[in-house]
Amino acid sequence: MEHHLLCPGQIFKGPILSVADHSTHQASGGSEIPMITEKDVNERLRNGGYIADESIATAVFLALNMGKPILIEGPPGVGKTGLAKVLSVVLDYPLIRLQCYEGIDEGKALYDWEYGKQLLYTQMLRSQLDSYLSCTTDLRGAVERLSAEESLFFSENFLVQRPILRSFMSDKPSLLLIDEIDRSGDEFEALLLECLSDFQVSIPELGVIQARNRPLVILTSNGTRMISDALRRRCLYLYIGYPELEREIAIVRVRHPDLCQNLTLKMVEFLRSVRELNMRKPPSISETLDWAHVLSILKVRDLTPQVVAHTLGSIAKHQADLPLVKDLADRMLA
Ligand SMILES: Nc1ncnc2c1ncn2[C@@H]1O[C@H](COP(=O)(O)OP(=O)(O)O)[C@@H](O)[C@H]1O
Ligand SMILES: [Mg+2]
Repeated sequence: MEHHLLCPGQIFKGPILSVADHSTHQASGGSEIPMITEKDVNERLRNGGYIADESIATAVFLALNMGKPILIEGPPGVGKTGLAKVLSVVLDYPLIRLQCYEGIDEGKALYDWEYGKQLLYTQMLRSQLDSYLSCTTDLRGAVERLSAEESLFFSENFLVQRPILRSFMSDKPSLLLIDEIDRSGDEFEALLLECLSDFQVSIPELGVIQARNRPLVILTSNGTRMISDALRRRCLYLYIGYPELEREIAIVRVRHPDLCQNLTLKMVEFLRSVRELNMRKPPSISETLDWAHVLSILKVRDLTPQVVAHTLGSIAKHQADLPLVKDLADRMLA
């Protein structure tokens, strides 16, 4: 059976049926929306310069159809953030990125109040406030009268939308990237639970705000700490590891088509062997692409131990790893 997903702007409004041979879908407003198939996800990513495998394409397809966030885990540099960036382009969803760090909180991720603007308004309205409060005789009375008008100062006028709320309030579906969640703490994860399961944000002064358009949410983790089961349960899970030989070659080809095919094959095979060494930081796709770039700038035609020795810094990023790679090149490429 072939699966279909709706085009940008139409997803998440409700369950989408799998239809075998319809090329259009009747949207709730009556307009016909072209649909794309599961295979097209792969195709679109490739057109955007991202080479996916079946598990990546399926996870994206399901996330779009089910309206569920994807939690992507994997070592650094394997294309987790890159997938979100390319998806935002090929789906035409504005990218709204939240980079996590230790100590990130509600005020940086969800919303904040514009204290400066509140202060400015109170200063500008000083004379009105004076006359408004003139009927009160003591401090308690003044405070009570003022607090009755508190909602004026805690209204949407003074609300700063941070990335999560901004993606919920977007006029069209967006791509919300919550990047490197493993850098944040347990409290922040707990904060995400309500947002990601109900697509709503509770603001004590305003009430519960429902998402106007549900974003496609991608969370990434480099696995430096365990993510809670509660958060995992709310997400589709995708592990991206180091790529298979063919996929890695295709990635180099798409980014550096100028590199000769033999050299591409040889460098990718060499890097696969490097990954089996006991390195502090094994080379990832980012190192593969950096190295391909360096070889292309240097107009290298063949991979020799000398070439590896001169370009070691693109492959290994720790001093202790340098001799390991050099030794391997001497054994493998001499
Ligand atoms: N499958 C892929 N196709 C094309 N480029 C890729 C792919 N995977 C990774 N890259 C590229 O490798 C680099 C590192 O990827 P990135 O997404 O930053 O890694 P991560 O977020 O997993 O640490 C980026 O330039 C990215 O575009
Ligand atoms: Mg990343």
